[in-house]
Amino acid sequence: MGKKLILRKAIIHDVEGIHRLLLTFGNQGKLLPRSLSNLYSSVRDFFVVVDSNGKVYGCGALAIIWKDLAEVRSVAVSEEIQKKGWGKRIVEACLSEALTLGIYRVFVLTYEKTFFAKFGFVEVDKKDLHEKIWIDCFNCPKYPDNCDEIAMVINL
Ligand SMILES: CC(C)(COP(=O)(O)OP(=O)(O)OC[C@H]1O[C@@H](n2cnc3c(N)ncnc32)[C@H](O)[C@@H]1OP(=O)(O)O)[C@@H](O)C(=O)NCCC(=O)NCCS
Repeated sequence: MGKKLILRKAIIHDVEGIHRLLLTFGNQGKLLPRSLSNLYSSVRDFFVVVDSNGKVYGCGALAIIWKDLAEVRSVAVSEEIQKKGWGKRIVEACLSEALTLGIYRVFVLTYEKTFFAKFGFVEVDKKDLHEKIWIDCFNCPKYPDNCDEIAMVINL
């Protein structure tokens, strides 16, 4: 792929592309798909990787959970540009934003343990995270018996 790609904060026109990307991986069971309504209200959380036409190839978000806790969520990189460092750049942008906000503890719920371990995320028991994370869990089709995501935390 010879296209020039950039990483930047998401704008409202990226939401449909983010939605499509998350749906692709959601259908494979790799992450939770999110509704358009949910994405519009949280678009300010997102970073995207886009080409010069505005096509979305990658995304990821930093969601603030509490005064001392944020979550990296919805990290997805289109298969055609995987393994080129874009996933890493997205997560680094989220962690950098957490630092800018003054939040020094970030977690992720994921199946990609090896990918996140490279940043210094370590596995923890989900029960050790803030109770507010359960709001999303209650809305998840896998809750409670089929939840197999791993919780990982990094202290910045
Ligand atoms: C996981 C994902 C985001 C990685 O994106 P990517 O752009 O291919 O990753 P990068 O090229 O930035 O890789 C960064 C590092 O992680 C490693 N890595 C990437 N994917 C990996 C995987 N699935 N398992 C183990 N290591 C992985 C790379 O080898 C690289 O290591 P290095 O820095 O030592 O060379 C991408 O595969 C994806 O979108 N998967 C489907 C959705 C998903 O599972 N998202 C995570 C849920 S929160």
